[in-house]
Amino acid sequence: MTSSIWLFGYGSLIWRPDFDFNSSRIAWVDGWSRRFWQGSHDHRGVPEAPGRVATLIPLIGERCGGMAFEIDAESAVRIFDQLDYREKNGYERFQAPLYFDDGNQVEGVFYVANEDNHAYLGPAPIEKIAAQIKRSHGPSGSNEEYLRNLADALRRHKIEDDHVFSIESGIIAR
Ligand code: SIN
Repeated sequence: MTSSIWLFGYGSLIWRPDFDFNSSRIAWVDGWSRRFWQGSHDHRGVPEAPGRVATLIPLIGERCGGMAFEIDAESAVRIFDQLDYREKNGYERFQAPLYFDDGNQVEGVFYVANEDNHAYLGPAPIEKIAAQIKRSHGPSGSNEEYLRNLADALRRHKIEDDHVFSIESGIIAR
């Protein structure tokens, strides 16, 4: 019987896990890449002026680094209810293997906002993404704070991400 469930966070869940967990480890998902292609109407923007937040894009040969959180199976229903609400603006749960740096692997759950959801914004030039993030604000705070917290967390955990770091440089340059 499984006594714990692994949740993988690659965006705000890395730096603001507001749920109970037993342990956390850096982990990777294969075939996915992080992009600021999801619109945020409810956290880092508003419906008339959405911000941009992270989602995962399927990309063969790529891998995305983030944080895996080990959750008690008994608490999982309650925690996923809370997270479904937090991620309600277009994200759906996915299940796939998570890979750890020591070579071990577990089945994991993560939230993805795919291109069919109503809030999806899709690709844009890095300068435009940086400009949109710079000017956007929502009920959870500024979009820039989201981006900077994510970039800081990735640096702290030594996870490379050209997309995130180039948007951060684009914001600094403005
Ligand atoms: C995640 O962090 O894993 C999902 C996207 C977000 O809430 O920023």
